[in-house]
Order: sequence, then C-alpha cells, then structure tokens
Amino acid sequence: MKTTKLIALVGTIALGLFIAIPKLSWAADDGAAIYKTKCAACHGADAAGKPAAKIPSLVSEDLKKTSDEAIGKFIAETAKHPAGIKGLPGDDVKAVVSYIRSLQK
Ligand code: HEC
Repeated sequence: MKTTKLIALVGTIALGLFIAIPKLSWAADDGAAIYKTKCAACHGADAAGKPAAKIPSLVSEDLKKTSDEAIGKFIAETAKHPAGIKGLPGDDVKAVVSYIRSLQK
C-alpha cells in the first residue's frame, strides 16, 4: 500500500516537472507561435512580405534599424491590421518582436 502511494507521489512530481519545464523557454516559442498564427499569412513565414499585395517585409534594412518600441507601434497602429493584431497584448507584442529580430539576423 505504501509503495503504491510513493509511486503515485513520484508520478505526480514527474508530471509537474513535465508541465513546468517547457514554460522556462516560453517567451521564444510564444513569439514564433504568435507569428505563425497571426502574422505569417500576410507577411509570409520568412517575414519577407508580399510586394505584389503591398505587404511590407519585416526583415528589411529599415526595420532592422527600427526600435522595438516603434515596431510595436506599427503592429498596434497599422491601419490595415485586423483588430486581433492591433489589440495584441503588450507581452505578445514583445515576444513577436523578438521573434522578428531572430528572423532579421
Ligand atoms: C491582414 C494582413 C496582415 C496581418 C495579419 C498582419 N499584417 Fe502587418 N502589415 C500588413 C500591411 C498591408 C502592412 C502595410 C500597411 C501600410 O503600408 O499602411 C503592414 C505593416 C506592418 C508593419 C510596418 C512595416 C513597415 O516597414 O512599415 C509591421 C512592423 C507589421 N506589419 C508587423 C506585423 C506583425 C508582427 C503581425 C502579426 C502580429 C502583422 N503585421 C500582421 C498586413 C498584415
């Protein structure tokens, strides 16, 4: 009986760690996930944009020189962005901007 309880306890701890550990690298994964679900359809998976549809590249020399804050403002204030993009919470904007930075390298 005692052994069964011990096994259950160890199992619970293992499960807890299994859930907790991926969260340590949450920010980077999150930015990539947000980009893929909310931005890639327009700006492209590689963020190169779609010139024919007048969708700008996010990996241009200009944007490389643009501050994180200013890119955040573009995301929130671009008239052509749908409501879900304009209303993106601040933490998500930061995560997605850092993901864009990784694509700019
Ligand atoms: C419905 C299509 C669409 C979606 C979805 C979209 N964008 Fe855009 N985005 C545009 C268009 C079109 C422009 C250019 C608007 C203009 O020139 O006025 C733009 C402009 C921008 C700019 C300014 C670039 C520059 O050089 O001026 C940034 C930064 C940007 N988008 C980031 C994002 C990010 C990050 C996401 C996802 C969170 C996103 N966009 C989602 C269509 C989209």
